[in-house]
Amino acid sequence: MRKLVVNAIVSLVLGVAVVNAEEAKTVPPADNPVKAEMRLLDKAFKNLIDSLILNNPKAIEEPFHEVHMAKANTEAALKRGEIKLPKNSNKMKEFVHMDEQFHGKLEALIEASRKGDMKGVQDVTHKLLNGCVQCHNKFRN
Ligand code: HEC
Repeated sequence: MRKLVVNAIVSLVLGVAVVNAEEAKTVPPADNPVKAEMRLLDKAFKNLIDSLILNNPKAIEEPFHEVHMAKANTEAALKRGEIKLPKNSNKMKEFVHMDEQFHGKLEALIEASRKGDMKGVQDVTHKLLNGCVQCHNKFRN
């Protein structure tokens, strides 16, 4: 009986360790919705770079779906006035505008990737990178 209980506890602990290892491979939890969205965006963008370099347009879109869902969360938090940016947090209108422009470019990216238009993908990727740096300069760094 004792052996059974010990076995049960061991499997439970191992089970938790496996679940934790699974989580470690995905994006870690963030302490605010912007960070949560950004971590997913970062992952999707790096995958985009790889897909561009390896000429694999079909691999581009999928990770951006998670970004899209996270954006809905950020928008809801914005409406509730819960977003506090590291820098220029009083210029929320400008932040929203930049964010909208950026997501517009993401739409163009997805369209180009669906068509297998890698020249188009490359052009938008440059614009997106500029968008990351521009917004971080103003609101983060
Ligand atoms: C419209 C503005 C905006 C754009 C565009 C933007 N970011 Fe961000 N990003 C932010 C802000 C604001 C933060 C800081 C959030 C915080 O610390 O609360 C941030 C933080 C981050 C972080 C750090 C997250 C963390 O866990 O602390 C990463 C990584 C990141 N962004 C990647 C990117 C990448 C990659 C792009 C472009 C593909 C991008 N961002 C585009 C506004 C933006």
